[in-house]
Amino acid sequence: MTEDVSERVVELAKRRGFFFQSNGAYGGVSGFYTYGPQGATLKDNVEDAWRDRFAVAEGHMEVDAPTVMPEPVFEASGHLDGFDDMLVECPECGENHRADHLVEDDTEIEEAESVPTEEVEDLIAEHDLVCPDCGTELAGQPVEEFNLMFETNIGPGSSQPGYLRPETAQGIFVEFPRLKEYARNQLPFGVTQIGKAYRNEISPRNSIIRVRELTQAELEHFVDPEEDEPPLHRVEDVRVTLYPADEQEKEEGGYVETTVGEAVEEGILTNDWVAYYLGVAEPWYDRVGVDMDRFRFRQHLSGERAHYAADCWDAEAEIDGDWFELAGFAYRSDYDLSKHAEHSDEEFTLFKQYDEPKRVERATVDPDMSYLGPEFGGDAGDVADALERKAERDRAAFDGEDVTVETDGEEYAVPLEKTGFGVEEVTESGEHITPHVVEPSFGVDRTVYTVVAHAYREDEVDGEERSYLDLDPEVAPTTVGVFPLMDKDGMDERARDIAAELREDGHDVTYDDSGAIGRRYRRQDEVGTPFCVTVDYETLEAGTVTVRERDTTEQTRVPVEDLSETLTALRDGDRTFDEVLVAADAE
Ligand code: GLY
Repeated sequence: MTEDVSERVVELAKRRGFFFQSNGAYGGVSGFYTYGPQGATLKDNVEDAWRDRFAVAEGHMEVDAPTVMPEPVFEASGHLDGFDDMLVECPECGENHRADHLVEDDTEIEEAESVPTEEVEDLIAEHDLVCPDCGTELAGQPVEEFNLMFETNIGPGSSQPGYLRPETAQGIFVEFPRLKEYARNQLPFGVTQIGKAYRNEISPRNSIIRVRELTQAELEHFVDPEEDEPPLHRVEDVRVTLYPADEQEKEEGGYVETTVGEAVEEGILTNDWVAYYLGVAEPWYDRVGVDMDRFRFRQHLSGERAHYAADCWDAEAEIDGDWFELAGFAYRSDYDLSKHAEHSDEEFTLFKQYDEPKRVERATVDPDMSYLGPEFGGDAGDVADALERKAERDRAAFDGEDVTVETDGEEYAVPLEKTGFGVEEVTESGEHITPHVVEPSFGVDRTVYTVVAHAYREDEVDGEERSYLDLDPEVAPTTVGVFPLMDKDGMDERARDIAAELREDGHDVTYDDSGAIGRRYRRQDEVGTPFCVTVDYETLEAGTVTVRERDTTEQTRVPVEDLSETLTALRDGDRTFDEVLVAADAE
């Protein structure tokens, strides 16, 4: 196989209409890409395959939330404070760089994102790292945290700041109070969303792998951490290549080749829900055409995990020797719902009925409003409500002399004796619990890129070099190319009719009558069309067409009346091309 597949893929993608940098007429802007006709269909097909497996087959709901959200959402979610990358600016040319990437590129360190900024500054100096653009030494330059969210103003003026969402997930979390009703207040339930997210990357790179506007396919699965268990038996035999954190930290660490079931038993995968979704994801990636010999699950190092994640594994793929993230599988615990409960006026809990009523201890407050009123003025009511919520969730907060609560981003300290805190025994039929969340989060653009790069092939046909995409028919933008051998004698009319009939039967068809037939085959090979149908004189005389298979370039004749059914069977994997050849020979 050829070196530098990435370069060839980028060239092919632009030339044949998969994807290309946007706004070329104005010089282009890094990190923004347009999907052309082939790419848009391929992306849709990947999204449909994801929806089919992660929403439909799992019985989860799907939503479609806005991409602009108001500032309080991201104060609550922690993105305003914690969604940063490390920025270092070149003192000479002024170019900005991801400091952790410079360190990874020039040292043995694989995941510099988990290294504190001061240490990254030291590493830059120790390794004499220079600006990749102008070669100036970067030693001594400050490494700063740069927030990746795009800010905007909602409405005229600046009184209501908003942000383009950096993950689709928050559009699900903020609607939990309503979504739980649609789930009939029963855990577990999952909510999926496929949509755009935005990250103002310091240095977008690698085509559509690191972009500023991206498409995510995310599932937020809300579970009761005490009771709900995933159906691990369904995926226990799935074979996986794991790269656990402790192996990454060893000098000679390596992969663990195992099954999902064994990895759980041996404590390599410590979270059953994450394990379950790794087991679901592995065959899905195989299904859409990722080369599973260049695929692994890598556990995040502790310093690398997002602010909300208790444990996280990434699905990673290799292209040209580099590994990059395709998806993250995070256990977000109750982080997001608890934060939105603290910061908003809504309840982010769900009532869990006990089998039998129980005598339980309940923490209560009876705030002294004659103290809170003069002390906190118009905020006194909110402080009282916040004390009540705190008593329900965090009894230990009432152990000291003061109790600190937060409301609308402000902190208030209330002396314990003014809270009226007490514990009483009551009979309860159930309790309000905050569900935990497991989140498989897929980067759609990265998946599309990997599918194309892993499908890229070069060979020789009839003494001529050929490149083609070995795409699975499920994701290929076109499943059938239909050509008249020549644009005359009624062959074109017959070919157009056949194309129309195939479209009616649900096939993705491209009709092409321009240029020599060999060139038409090459064009379809390059965009990964698995089958081509040629209408020739024999079609007019004997009612058969040529069907050609992309990878082998083998051809056979099929009666027109059997064509659609044959192509459907080939597309769906119910019949192989060899079987079609054998059947044709037998006739
Ligand atoms: N929702 C996880 C992420 O965007 O990375």
